[in-house]
Amino acid sequence: MDDKRFIANKALIEDDGDVSLRPTTFDEYIGQDKVKANLKVYVAASKARGEALDHVLLYGPPGLGKTTLAHIIASELGVEIKVTSGPGIERAANLASLLTNMQERDVLFLDEIHRLNHSIEEVLYPAMEDFALDISTGKGAGATSIRLNLNKFTLIGATTRAGMLTGPLRDRFGVICRLEPYSSDDLVRIVKRSAKLLKIAIDDDAARELASRSRGTPRIANRLLKRVRDFAEVYNDGVISLAITRKALADMEIDPLGLDYNDMKLLGALVKKFDGGPTGLDTLAAAINEDAGTIEDVIEPYLIQLGFIARTSRGRVALKAAYRHLNVAPTKKASEQLSFLTDDNKDE
Ligand code: ADE
Repeated sequence: MDDKRFIANKALIEDDGDVSLRPTTFDEYIGQDKVKANLKVYVAASKARGEALDHVLLYGPPGLGKTTLAHIIASELGVEIKVTSGPGIERAANLASLLTNMQERDVLFLDEIHRLNHSIEEVLYPAMEDFALDISTGKGAGATSIRLNLNKFTLIGATTRAGMLTGPLRDRFGVICRLEPYSSDDLVRIVKRSAKLLKIAIDDDAARELASRSRGTPRIANRLLKRVRDFAEVYNDGVISLAITRKALADMEIDPLGLDYNDMKLLGALVKKFDGGPTGLDTLAAAINEDAGTIEDVIEPYLIQLGFIARTSRGRVALKAAYRHLNVAPTKKASEQLSFLTDDNKDE
C-alpha cells in the first residue's frame, strides 16, 4: 500500500469506523439515483478524454454519503485520493504543500469546505481555475509573486452548508450535487446489504422497521443495525427479528419516527419552555446545552423535514405536528401563533 492510499484509508476509518460497509463502486452504491447517474456520465466522459474531472461540490446533511461518493469517484476514475478537511488546514502553506504533491488527475477531497479559513481559501482560486499557485516573495516595494504550475487535479468539496460558501469558491465548481435524505426502500436495501456484509441474519420486517427509524440517513441505519445486533446476540439467538428490533430501539430511546433523546430535548424545550417559539437559535442552544452548529446541521434538518419545526425570520417555531407527536395541547397564545403560521411566513 503506498503512502497516499494509506492517508485516504486512515481518514476513512477515523470518519466513522464504517469502512467495511462503505460501497466502493457506483454499482454498489444504493440511492441518490440522479446524482449517481450524472456523476457516472461525468466520470466516463473525463476518463475517455484523458482529462481531470471538473471540480465537484457535494452538499447535504451529514451521514448521506458525501465521503463515500468522493472515494467512489476517485476509484472509478482510477486515480489516487487525498483526504483533508477545512478545519484540518491551519495554514496556507499546508494547502500549498498538498496541492504541489497532487499527481495528474488525482482527487483532493476537502471535507467541511465551508470551514476553510478565508485567507487560505484564496489559495484555492488560482489552483482550481488555472492549476497554479501564486507565491509571493519579499516585502513592501520589492514584493513579487511567482506562479507555480500544478498538475491538473480534481477538487471534491463536501459541505453540510452550501450557503456558507463564498460566491467565488462556489463558482469554481463545475459539478454541484445536492444529496437528499434516502427513501425508506433504499434504506431497507442498505440495511440488508450491511447485514450481509456483517454476516447477521435479519428478518424483512425488522429491516423495514430499522429503515423507518433511520431518519433517511444510511450512517444512522448502519449504526442502529450494529446496536440491534448486540441486543439480538444477548437476548435472542443472534437473529434480528422485529420483536428484538423494537425492544432494542425502545431501550435506546429511539421513537417510532427515529427521534432520539436530543431531538426530544429540543422539541420539548421549544414547546414547553418557550411556548412554541419563536426562539432564536442561540437561546435554544443555551437552553438545551447543545452547540448551535450541531442543532442546525444535525438535529434540525430532520425535524424540519417532518414538519415539526420551522425556521422563521424571528426564530424557531414548533408546528402542529410537533404538538401532536409530544401529545401536548398548545396554549392559547401558541394556538394563535399556529393559526398564523402559513407557508407564507415560514422561511423554509
Ligand atoms: N452504506 C452506507 N451508505 C450506503 C449506500 N448509499 N449504498 C450502499 N451501502 C451504503
